[in-house]
Amino acid sequence: MIRKSALAALLAALALPVAAVAADCSVVVESNDAMQFDTKEIVVDRSCDEVTVNLKHVGKLPASAMGHNWVLTKKDDMQAVAADGAAAGLDNDYVKPNDDRVIAYTKVIGGGEETEITFDVSDLDKDDDYGFLCSFPGHWAVMQGKFVFAE
Ligand code: CU
Repeated sequence: MIRKSALAALLAALALPVAAVAADCSVVVESNDAMQFDTKEIVVDRSCDEVTVNLKHVGKLPASAMGHNWVLTKKDDMQAVAADGAAAGLDNDYVKPNDDRVIAYTKVIGGGEETEITFDVSDLDKDDDYGFLCSFPGHWAVMQGKFVFAE
């Protein structure tokens, strides 16, 4: 009996993805001076009509040098959104103004700062493939992950 439950616990631990699971339809994402998010996958409950993302920058570098934002798009749009965002500049938070491909985004923050965005997901196709990224120039290739709606 004990061995069986220990095995089950081990299997459960092995199956755990490196995911930030959103309780109460909100999630905290950390970013740092090493150009990293602390998660590669954000999982949100399908029942959520709105999602809140709280972005923290736990580093020390200023936004001009190591700024980060959090941008949500369809997976297929990530590269183009990042390219257009980089061209749009810091004044636009590295997001092309009125970009229809951008579902939600935060402003760009520097070390020690945090910001938050709440957005409507009720009209999204929850079976589609979504991704999040930082659109600061040069960051999106490593600062990205999956955004998934789960049961
Ligand atoms: Cu970044």
